[in-house]
Amino acid sequence: MTPSQIPIIQTIGVCQEYKLPRTSLFGERPVLAALKNVDFYAMEGESVGIVGESGAGKSTLTRILVGMEKPSSGSFKFKNQEVWSSDDEFKAEFRRSVQMVLQNPRSSFDPRMTIAQSLLQPLKGLKIGGDHQKRIHEVLDQVGLGVDSLKKYPYEFSGGQLQRVAIARALIPNPKILIADEPVSALDVSIQAQVLNLLNDLVKDLNLTLILITHDLSVVSYVTTRVAIMVNGEIAEVDSPKALFQNPKSTIAKSFVDSVLTVGKGIEGESLF
Ligand SMILES: Nc1ncnc2c1ncn2[C@@H]1O[C@H](COP(=O)(O)OP(=O)(O)OP(=O)(O)O)[C@@H](O)[C@H]1O
Ligand SMILES: [Mg+2]
Repeated sequence: MTPSQIPIIQTIGVCQEYKLPRTSLFGERPVLAALKNVDFYAMEGESVGIVGESGAGKSTLTRILVGMEKPSSGSFKFKNQEVWSSDDEFKAEFRRSVQMVLQNPRSSFDPRMTIAQSLLQPLKGLKIGGDHQKRIHEVLDQVGLGVDSLKKYPYEFSGGQLQRVAIARALIPNPKILIADEPVSALDVSIQAQVLNLLNDLVKDLNLTLILITHDLSVVSYVTTRVAIMVNGEIAEVDSPKALFQNPKSTIAKSFVDSVLTVGKGIEGESLF
């Protein structure tokens, strides 16, 4: 493999098990296998989707990919290096390089902090030097917001604007990978496309890797070029969105697609297929 063919982020045979509360006085605590042998990767500059029904393990995989949880077993690599056994310097690079955008911008900001204070936090927390004010102005510009936003509080923004601020906050440490877990599902349909277009533009302009987790097949088709379907803790199938949603090969993927594919119209009224 040449360096350009090595995934920037990768799980190999990752399992994640959670111990559940004891159901009887005696005996072992039951174990829930949330991820079973998950092989997943994304290349630099690639937009990859993860879809699957509720409880399939999407958020669990996300927590592994951002380093919030250590897998029970299996390998997790960033830039071809094991993250959990790497040295502190590499771990710090990993933490700066992988950033998240969450579903609900209202609950991901401290309502008592101005946007300026919220945007300063990752710079301080990750001990990033340089001109902080300049960096904040740069990212605000990248997400299409003016510097007048800085003095405001979260409640002064619409949901779509606040999700732009959340994207700005994720961009602050200059990440290589953006992981977005249902980034538009809490937003009004009329502004979902704007936020998705912003993500698409950022991926191109900054050569970001985007990992997008969603229930919504039209969203994933609009943004990503390769999609993994998760079913019951496993990756059932990976393909282009078109191939996967029109003609899934495995019966398990087919039954998922059939269960969610209700309309043939995507966002902005375009037909996706
Ligand atoms: N910390 C935990 N302790 C115990 N069980 C957990 C924990 N986190 C997740 N689970 C279980 O693991 C399974 C996968 O959950 P996960 O949140 O990853 O699903 P999901 O695909 O993100 O679902 P949704 O679409 O509803 O967000 C579920 O059965 C869930 O109950
Ligand atoms: Mg989830």
